[in-house]
Amino acid sequence: MSTTSPLYEGKAKSLYTTDREGILVQRFKDSATAFNGRKFATLPGKGALNNRISSILFRLLRESGIDSHYVDTRNTRDMGVRAVRIVPLEVVVRNVVAGSLSTRLGLDEGVALRHPIVELYYKRDDLGDPMICMDHAAVMQLATDAELQQLKRMALEVNDVLQPLWASAELTLVDFKLEFGRTDSGLLLADEISPDTSRLWDRTDPSRRMDKDVFRRDLGDLVETYTEVLRRLLTVAAAHDPGELTDAPSDR
Ligand code: TMP
Ligand code: ASP
Repeated sequence: MSTTSPLYEGKAKSLYTTDREGILVQRFKDSATAFNGRKFATLPGKGALNNRISSILFRLLRESGIDSHYVDTRNTRDMGVRAVRIVPLEVVVRNVVAGSLSTRLGLDEGVALRHPIVELYYKRDDLGDPMICMDHAAVMQLATDAELQQLKRMALEVNDVLQPLWASAELTLVDFKLEFGRTDSGLLLADEISPDTSRLWDRTDPSRRMDKDVFRRDLGDLVETYTEVLRRLLTVAAAHDPGELTDAPSDR
């Protein structure tokens, strides 16, 4: 299968066309960026870790009845995905105060929220991805009212699956970001779910951050951290499918 023509180049991933109608390859790069690209590094191994972690999570979500653009894991850094038209919104779910919620509202990081909350961010690098409300999204015609309701419901459903799953891996799912795409048959979960797009705190030592905050805040070695996240996730995934432990993607 040819993956030579890049369709889209993002900060952490690129999309390539394939010779299969409606199927693209999502390639995970080794680049790490933060603060809208102002901080940048190349971290060998990061792309493969996020591809594997994201692939496992999409498979587990599918097992729980939540479909996504995930088709297959091609090799260490390539994921086969369905072509979708991305909704220009980042949908963030939060269980615990951290990051921008802490700074925006003056709340202490680590305080558990009474119930999960969903926030929308407009995907516009030139504006710094501003947080918007559902009415903004509707007026800007970024999504219909029905789609917005569905996005929120799906995001909370993903949280309901991922929260206990990460807890079994001894990690607290503090918050995470999702993206969705349109298909002819409706909205589909898209993009990636990884420690780049989630906050994961060690359950026994919450000061141990096991996500991209390690890079954003210079807290240690990101590739070592993601390797540990994958190790823990594999123990959980193997309980669902023992093949997860042995079927590591390869480049052959
Ligand atoms: P925030 O606290 O910085 O708003 O981030 C909330 C969550 O969203 C966190 O898990 C990291 C994730 N996120 C992304 O995936 N991409 C982004 O560009 C940003 C700002 C956050
Ligand atoms: N991914 C975003 C960027 O590069 C921000 C972040 O995740 O902190 O700029």
